[in-house]
Amino acid sequence: MKSLQEIWEDLKKYLEVEKALELGFSNGNYTKELAKYAKKVVGIDISDDFMEIAKRNLKDYSNIELLIMDANNMSFEDKSFDLVLSTSFHEFDLSGEEYSVDLELKRSILTEMARVSDTIVFIEPTENAVTNELFKVFNPNENHSDRIKQSNNLIDTFMKEKNYELVTKGLTYNKDQFSNLDELNEEMLDWWADIKVPSTEEEKKQMINQIDMILDNAGMLEGLYVTEEIAYKVFKKVN
Ligand SMILES: C[S@@+](CC[C@H](N)C(=O)[O-])C[C@H]1O[C@@H](n2cnc3c(N)ncnc32)[C@H](O)[C@@H]1O
Repeated sequence: MKSLQEIWEDLKKYLEVEKALELGFSNGNYTKELAKYAKKVVGIDISDDFMEIAKRNLKDYSNIELLIMDANNMSFEDKSFDLVLSTSFHEFDLSGEEYSVDLELKRSILTEMARVSDTIVFIEPTENAVTNELFKVFNPNENHSDRIKQSNNLIDTFMKEKNYELVTKGLTYNKDQFSNLDELNEEMLDWWADIKVPSTEEEKKQMINQIDMILDNAGMLEGLYVTEEIAYKVFKKVN
């Protein structure tokens, strides 16, 4: 299977556009990739904290503009982008005490995406990704695997309804390699610090134990890496 790095290169013919939009830039890691291909990238996110982080990470990129904006209510003109990129955008309010999937909200955001572009690229961890298990350490009520499954089904149905054709799809993986166990554990705790930060040393130890057990079962702990299965799909509107 090709790595995500190689897949970016394979998707080049879709990504080399004048103006691209990225939804939910978070720390800006994927924004950076997109900016290697698109002449101009506009990234939106709803979080002020992520805005500060992304601004720092992307300060050397002159073709990226970051905005605080709700993906469900974008202030862009119809069809004003050559492409929309959605990476890990299944996740809305994940901090709830009860598990629920808001498919109406998802549908509404998809409608906004289709309004602003005729080409939509999804790069999303799959329902099999180890991150789904890891997420439970931060919120045991969350069923990430189910969220992703339902969300992906809706994407496929919605795109078909709106006359978008699936022009390419495949599976790939992302790999984060760490140099020691402490680094791995600290990074894992950081990934979902917006959902939960351990409040005591004891709680931190417990969370780390759970994380390490999950990674051990997945055969990743010994090699000090975390890899997740990712699906990519490119949809184009048929006129
Ligand atoms: C799981 S993160 C994905 C981050 C990044 N794309 C990645 O894959 O690393 C989801 C991001 O979407 C943002 N987000 C959630 N709901 C949003 C909304 N309605 N409008 C814009 N951004 C939103 C969050 O703040 C977060 O940065």
